[in-house]
Amino acid sequence: MRVLGVSGSLRRDSHNRRLLQAAAATLPPEAELVVYEGLKAIPPFDEDDEHSPARAVHDWRGAISDADALLFATPEYNSSIPGHLKNALDWASRPIAEAALANKPAAVIGASTGSFGAVWAQAALRKALAAAGARVIDRAATARCSIRSAQPSSTRSSPSCSARPRSAERGHRSW
Ligand SMILES: Cc1cc2nc3c(=O)[nH]c(=O)nc-3n(C[C@H](O)[C@H](O)[C@H](O)COP(=O)(O)O)c2cc1C
Repeated sequence: MRVLGVSGSLRRDSHNRRLLQAAAATLPPEAELVVYEGLKAIPPFDEDDEHSPARAVHDWRGAISDADALLFATPEYNSSIPGHLKNALDWASRPIAEAALANKPAAVIGASTGSFGAVWAQAALRKALAAAGARVIDRAATARCSIRSAQPSSTRSSPSCSARPRSAERGHRSW
């Protein structure tokens, strides 16, 4: 099983990237998680270009199509998902008849430095994925993790953080 991991943060030292790596460590041997690296190169969505998009969009759609399932780790920006992540979803939702996201199993986890662990961003992301036709894993199987900026060293060692991706992974296995 090939799982495409997508970090909603482009930041070099992203907590969400680390969360994906923690999730990868919980996967069974028959599953492989590959983190997508091309999100930053995706241009703003333009409906005029949806049938003949830039190479970066072509690659993004192809990576989704080649994956058996998607695992998103999103930060929260102003109570929602980062704009570049929404933009990437818009490209993968069109053209509608051949949308890469259609029927694709997808799970959402997230980390933020706020007190609520990106819970609004995760809800917004699940909503956008469902609107694009993805088969989004239900709320009970997602993970959320609040990271206090005052305690950066706790990010990697917190048992509650590292355990939670497993619930999403179990959800993937139930498909
Ligand atoms: C533009 C912007 C808006 C943000 N808004 C929120 C927010 O609404 N809620 C929250 O918990 N954190 C918010 N944050 C803090 C992020 O959760 C924090 O920067 C987090 O570490 C980003 O994830 P990353 O480490 O994967 O890059 C915001 C950060 C930025 C840059």
